[in-house]
Amino acid sequence: MKEVTRKMVTDVAVFAVSQIAFYYAFKYVMTSLDPNRQKQQDAKKVSDSKLGKLGLRSKQIKLNEHEEQIASELILPEDIPVTFELIGGLEGIISSLQESVIAPLCYPQLFNSASGLLGAPKGVLLYGPPGTGKTMLAKALAKESGATFINMHVSTLTNKWFGESNKLVAALFGLARKLQPSIIFIDEIDSFLRERASGDHEVTAMMKAEFMTLWDGLTSSTDRILVLGATNRPNDIDAAILRRMPKRYAVRLPESAQRKKILAIMLSNVPCHPSFDLEQLVRKTDGYSGSDLRELCRAAAMVPVREVLRSRTGRERVARARKSAPGTVDTIGETELSMSIRPLKNSDFFQSDTATPLHDATEVDALD
Ligand SMILES: Nc1ncnc2c1ncn2[C@@H]1O[C@H](COP(=O)(O)OP(=O)(O)OP(=O)(O)O)[C@@H](O)[C@H]1O
Ligand SMILES: [Mg+2]
Repeated sequence: MKEVTRKMVTDVAVFAVSQIAFYYAFKYVMTSLDPNRQKQQDAKKVSDSKLGKLGLRSKQIKLNEHEEQIASELILPEDIPVTFELIGGLEGIISSLQESVIAPLCYPQLFNSASGLLGAPKGVLLYGPPGTGKTMLAKALAKESGATFINMHVSTLTNKWFGESNKLVAALFGLARKLQPSIIFIDEIDSFLRERASGDHEVTAMMKAEFMTLWDGLTSSTDRILVLGATNRPNDIDAAILRRMPKRYAVRLPESAQRKKILAIMLSNVPCHPSFDLEQLVRKTDGYSGSDLRELCRAAAMVPVREVLRSRTGRERVARARKSAPGTVDTIGETELSMSIRPLKNSDFFQSDTATPLHDATEVDALD
């Protein structure tokens, strides 16, 4: 009898141990088979470090796995080199954004009204021709607004597994709510929320629908979340989306006064010849976008450098640099070289054909 009991106990124990071993082995196999595991682990690392830098780890904010994936898209102000001061000619848009969007978002107590009409808008659209500074404006907002800035890449939301995209969209709004006040920025928003067509992939259609539902669900009293979009093809955006972005700013090609400011900013650190005439340059760049102007200045600034490089001292310096170990900097030679670079003249501009003016603003005008 004793023998039988002992055998039974051993059998039960062996069975229990084998079950536990099977459970862990099965779990290990399943997790290692999960194609998203590595991605999730990487996202968790990035999001942990970003939340830590934002000082939010200490607030014990709990994120689910999808929110962690989205948190890797957070933009830290210290990582952005752009400030409002570096943007030329868009003062009107910047002050309007600060007064009627950022202030109500970040300081709602100042905008309390019984009618609820004074709150921040839920959607803002920046539209205009390419290279006019829309993305730059959004970056400066990320640095200077004081709100949490989520730079949403559409590729982060798309996932081939059924239902995952919807969970990611939900996580996007969930994270924005946990870290509010927040700005969800979608660059080239036309590619994500374009006119919905019957030929849309089912997952894409569902993702858009989920996005719109959650966007509608934002209430002005409790949620301080703003969706900021930028596009150069406003006419491709779904009408229902446009309705959700009541505040729209047209970022147009710069006029002469704006070009003057942009050029002054771009050339502020470049030594210019006393005869340099900014006005003349402004007149010659009619139809240029901010990005064209940047390319023009870059090409012009290269002209004196090229002259030095082609001179005897320049060639010698290059030869010396080749001989020295790669990566080491010959500082004495460098100062010598930079001292010999002559100041910039008007004739240095338009020497190359890198910049071409953009005139096609017809599509943009159609929205007004
Ligand atoms: N108003 C401006 N002031 C100073 N620099 C500008 C301005 N507009 C454009 N630039 C320069 O042009 C570059 C490109 O601008 P940006 O990427 O913001 O254009 P965009 O409007 O987003 O264009 P796209 O519609 O093609 O995305 C900027 O990095 C900046 O160097
Ligand atoms: Mg852009």
